[in-house]
Amino acid sequence: MTVQDTGSVEDLAARLRPGFTLGVATAAFQIEGSLTADGRGPAGWDAFAEKPGTIVDGGSPAIACDHYNRADEDIALMQELGVDSYRFSLSWPRIQPEGKGAVNPRGLEFYDRLIDKLLAAGISPMVTVYHWDTPLPLEHAGGWLNRETAHRFAEYSAIVAERYGDRVDSWVTVNEPVSVTLQGYALGAHSPGNQLLFDCLPAAHHQLLGHGLAVQALRAAGVSGQIGISNMHSPVRPASNKLSDRLMSDALDMILNRIYADAILLGEYPKPPLALSPLFRSLGPVQDDDLKTISQPLDFYGLNYYYPLKVASGSGPAEIPTGAAQEMVNVPFHLAVYDEYETTGFGWPEAPDQLTTLLQEMQQRYGEALPPIYITEGGASFPEPDHVTSPLQDTNRITYLAEHLGHALTATGPGGDAEGIDLRGYYVWTLMDNFEWAAGYSQRFGLVHVDFDTLERTPKESFYWLRSLERARRREQ
Ligand code: NOJ
Repeated sequence: MTVQDTGSVEDLAARLRPGFTLGVATAAFQIEGSLTADGRGPAGWDAFAEKPGTIVDGGSPAIACDHYNRADEDIALMQELGVDSYRFSLSWPRIQPEGKGAVNPRGLEFYDRLIDKLLAAGISPMVTVYHWDTPLPLEHAGGWLNRETAHRFAEYSAIVAERYGDRVDSWVTVNEPVSVTLQGYALGAHSPGNQLLFDCLPAAHHQLLGHGLAVQALRAAGVSGQIGISNMHSPVRPASNKLSDRLMSDALDMILNRIYADAILLGEYPKPPLALSPLFRSLGPVQDDDLKTISQPLDFYGLNYYYPLKVASGSGPAEIPTGAAQEMVNVPFHLAVYDEYETTGFGWPEAPDQLTTLLQEMQQRYGEALPPIYITEGGASFPEPDHVTSPLQDTNRITYLAEHLGHALTATGPGGDAEGIDLRGYYVWTLMDNFEWAAGYSQRFGLVHVDFDTLERTPKESFYWLRSLERARRREQ
């Protein structure tokens, strides 16, 4: 696929409705560094990353992009980029070092300054309350396997709602609970490193409960912004029409997508087909009103889309394409290869057409229950050099972004939301190369190259492409 295939920036800009948000996204733990500065407490991830063998090339999050000390420079970059909005996360252990009780004023002040500077720069803040950096004391008490963590999360959400509620335009409660459940509690590739396989499911339920309680806390504080969640959706297709393949595909769709989306949007958990119910076991002690708490109305639904999966029955290497923990799960299915798509640096299939289908299927499945959608993350890593002297020619990333945005817009229909889904925005993952969890610094997703020796930021061609899209859009409107 060449850049030409993606059409001109003007054509793409002309398809963006007025008010459509173009943004970039990051997460605190992936960019901030300064893990012990100004009273920050330890996170489970700090401890996990110190264990030998957990992070590719032994990459350390201690400095990351040093954003904690370079926020001004990063805001200036975003101003030059011309994005409407910046999605970033608050570090729970920076704000509440013990995960309960006392707050850390200096932690709160850091985000005060960040939010104020964004507003002054004309960039709308979208705040993720939890992007995986659970305070270590809570992790020691069982983390998301412990129902109490959901209540601690509600307490922390109330603190940040009170503090920032007058200035934040959009709130994302929890980012990708599915990734925490699977990578952190089932496979052990992420913090806290548990390998519980199907016994991980209480971590899903408690994050969802935490989400519901956080929505209540945000509403009780009267925040002025809109409230939602970010769920990763990985469309799952059977490798063939065989019943066994379809069954496995259905099961994986439940595990990856529907446990979360059904609970939030429909107020119920999907029922596994009888043949597979032993796999699911219990989602943990689901109490009477839990699903009601989890499913209260949202102002928007955030969807992170990276790749689809194709599933075949029969055990084989479970090549779950997420980095470190591969080939460790002996389950009665395996992932088949998508020959028709090129792949990113992570080996993920580049399948923009499946984003259109995904959005249409969301509309069909959830209908009236589906609030307006933001794509809260989309982007790609590619092998790129550690050091650069001029802007990287990342045409592969430009193609990726243009295609994905274009295919997302296709689902909105020619006349906008009345005929298709109500898509309000797209956030590129990510502003700058950063600490990519278990993959360390080996996967570069940024619009801006970061030299991790000098911490120098150098915008890539994709940065200038997004800037030209913003500019073309402003000329249009
Ligand atoms: C989703 C996560 O939210 C983000 O933290 C991560 O870096 C990207 N996926 C890319 O893997």
